[in-house]
Amino acid sequence: MPEKLTLSVIKADVGGYVGHGDVHPRLMDKAREVLASSPLLVDAYVARAGDDINLIMTHRRGVDDPEIHGLAWNTFKACTEVAKELKLYGAGQDLLVDAFAGNVKGMGPGVCEMEFVERPSEPIIVFMADKTEPGAWNLPLFKMFADPFTNPGLVIDPSMHDGFSFEIHDLKETRKVFLSAPEELYDILMFVGAHHRFVIKHVFSRGLDGMVCASSTTQKLAHVAGRYVGKDDPSLIVRCQSGLPSVGEALEPFAFPHLVGGWMRGSHCGPLMPCSYDRCNPSRFDGPPRVVALGFQIANGKLVGPRDLFADVAFDRAREQANQIADYLRRLGPFEPHRLSLDEMEYTTMPQLMKRLAERFQPIEEVRPPAEALAAAVETD
Ligand code: 13P
Ligand code: 13P
Ligand code: MG
Ligand code: MG
Repeated sequence: MPEKLTLSVIKADVGGYVGHGDVHPRLMDKAREVLASSPLLVDAYVARAGDDINLIMTHRRGVDDPEIHGLAWNTFKACTEVAKELKLYGAGQDLLVDAFAGNVKGMGPGVCEMEFVERPSEPIIVFMADKTEPGAWNLPLFKMFADPFTNPGLVIDPSMHDGFSFEIHDLKETRKVFLSAPEELYDILMFVGAHHRFVIKHVFSRGLDGMVCASSTTQKLAHVAGRYVGKDDPSLIVRCQSGLPSVGEALEPFAFPHLVGGWMRGSHCGPLMPCSYDRCNPSRFDGPPRVVALGFQIANGKLVGPRDLFADVAFDRAREQANQIADYLRRLGPFEPHRLSLDEMEYTTMPQLMKRLAERFQPIEEVRPPAEALAAAVETD
């Protein structure tokens, strides 16, 4: 049995520079230093998207490994110390608890991992977003793995004709369902279209022995913490080529800057703008939400790369369109649908405001026609 490799991406915001726009270089250095001194890893790459640090790690210990999660936790703790020294904004923001208890899930940091036997060539993409939430991946993942107009491989490559299985998580009810494309396309869309609540956690190939193809971070911090603690800026791993979407097919959905929740105060809807790595520093209205894509070839566990995939000028038009959409939405000010719906605002400071004004609300005296008059109207219909 060939040795399996685990790719883990664990991310957290442990302090923004300046405000919520970037990660200070000293935090990046600290993260690199801690990971480099660990004997647990085959390789590591520290990246950032806006104010979120992503630890991209390869190792042989499987998913949900307490040692690897502990290493990530300790790295974020060490970075938090630097953030506190520099008085960065929201230092330690995503570390919800003081003590680590074996798994970072539910403790603040976002986790996406997958274990696999390395293929003869193993191209992967790590997508990292800032100022948005896990549901931001629903539309692009659906297009990558189920929409033949986006991914012609679904038509051209015989091994993709068996389709893909989507593991969909219901973040509200804490339950999951596996649905298969293409037979259950409409059922899949029924749920993943409601991207604030239902998110795609994994995608598996049905043609290639259930091979894992995609894994995303799905936690909602506010659900865990019971209060607003920043948005859960998500990350996503996608494996590419040879029976899976090609690199270009995996990137193609992002040529359309779709609307996602997040942006200012995590309370607005805005376009997801694909950015080159060095431009992933949201500032206008703390946004707009943005995504970077780093491509790696994995060779014997080593991360060869990255290539900055959205640096391509072919994404310029998507950026331009995102800016136009941003202009349009901003003009709505505090009105929905620019501001998120009340349902979503429940997870922000909205309940505090509601409480403050609760006593000022008075019942409305309902004036209704007498029941007999209503019944008579029905009869004459
Ligand atoms: P090449 O012929 O350059 O290998 O490209 C094949 C492919 O799948 C492009 O998406
Ligand atoms: P982050 O979730 O990226 O920290 O942003 C929070 C925020 O309030 C932006 O305005
Ligand atoms: Mg922040
Ligand atoms: Mg962030």
